[in-house]
Amino acid sequence: MRKTARLLLGTILLVALAVAADREPWEVFAGRRARLLEKLSDGVVVLFGYTADEGETLRNPFRQENNFYYLTGWNEPGAILMLTPPMKERNSPVFDQVNQMPRQILFLPGRDPKQERWTGIKIGPYDEGLRDKTGFEAVRGVELFEKELSKAGAGFGRIYTIKPRPRAADRDPEPERAASLEKLAPLTEIADARPAITAMRMVKSPGEVGLIQKATDTTIAAHLAAWKRVKPGLFEYQIAAAMESVFLERGCWRPAYAPIVGGGFNSTVLHYSENSRRMDDGQVLLMDVGGEYGHYATDITRTIPVNGKFTPRQREIYEIVLGAQKAALAAAKPGMSLRTGPNSLHQIAYNYINAHGKDREGNPLGKYFIHGLGHHVGLDVHDPSSPETLLQPGMVITLEPGIYMPEEQLGVRIEDLVLVTEDGAKLLSGALPREPDEVERAMH
Ligand code: GLY
Ligand code: MN
Ligand code: MN
Repeated sequence: MRKTARLLLGTILLVALAVAADREPWEVFAGRRARLLEKLSDGVVVLFGYTADEGETLRNPFRQENNFYYLTGWNEPGAILMLTPPMKERNSPVFDQVNQMPRQILFLPGRDPKQERWTGIKIGPYDEGLRDKTGFEAVRGVELFEKELSKAGAGFGRIYTIKPRPRAADRDPEPERAASLEKLAPLTEIADARPAITAMRMVKSPGEVGLIQKATDTTIAAHLAAWKRVKPGLFEYQIAAAMESVFLERGCWRPAYAPIVGGGFNSTVLHYSENSRRMDDGQVLLMDVGGEYGHYATDITRTIPVNGKFTPRQREIYEIVLGAQKAALAAAKPGMSLRTGPNSLHQIAYNYINAHGKDREGNPLGKYFIHGLGHHVGLDVHDPSSPETLLQPGMVITLEPGIYMPEEQLGVRIEDLVLVTEDGAKLLSGALPREPDEVERAMH
């Protein structure tokens, strides 16, 4: 091989490797589709990826709809996924027609060279080597979708898709999508694929945990960088900037949510993200900041003293929040409920807070813990979950107790990421100090 050709091949391989590290192998996605087909074996599954308009703006690069990404790993606009289960009724006139179809089809829009000058080279349905480029045995042009759907749909009375949420936002595309399917297949029931996909998404694959860990490790570095920078007189946005710069520097694509950096009174505002005030001596600073890596989020909060040393009152409240988190972590294991019921981890944390310390009026502190103890984390920072499902190995959740006392200008939240294991739970963000002495030491 000529030297330039070898160099070129090497470059292509390197690029492929660099991309593959951010994404699980195609087989994992194909396996998820096969599992979904087993769960929804009485209907055709149709999922629409985001179009360029839905997933991309001048402000944000294209980011795929999460359920679609979970099943395909596909991050280009305008794709459609169709899954057809095997038909069991041998006597049906469409038995052969349906069973000879590919079970998993990815439909892609045609290439548009003019558009590609603006948005970059895309993969089209008539390109070479699509199996390696997409992980699908069958790739078709989107113009063939209606025809293939009517072929597959003839065998089933049901189409599963992502149905609109009960309170769909104006910009949600699902209502229009579901309506278009109803129009295409008027005699077919349109059923919701969301619960089945949510059940799958709640239990993470080792590859997903690896990506979440990568987001988490980068976020830990970002928090540590911020702690070194914090001092009285700086502005909250300067701390947010220090953290975001670590994300971007280390390959995170963006923050997983708007960074929350609040000093003093702002530490008591749960989703404060203006980050516009000056931090003063004697205040605490609450930083709820997490990065996104390879589509996966993390979600970490620490509360630190602006001048490097907690006051006795700040330390007292901090230790109560930490004690509540430790109590919940010690009880976290398969079979426990995160948030609902008298035996839930939430209740354990609440009881701890309510049994320790007092406010200025001498009342217990439970009423200052004003949010839920945690949530699932994955492709979404608030990953979908069904509240009645008990913890299982492979789930990734946050444990984030907090006490917020506006009258004392004092809010403390400690939020860590936890992987539920076979017999307990493991902190994924355990490398970031939590003990107050360690926090103070790390700041100096
Ligand atoms: N960062 C949002 C949350 O903690 O849920
Ligand atoms: Mn959270
Ligand atoms: Mn958070």
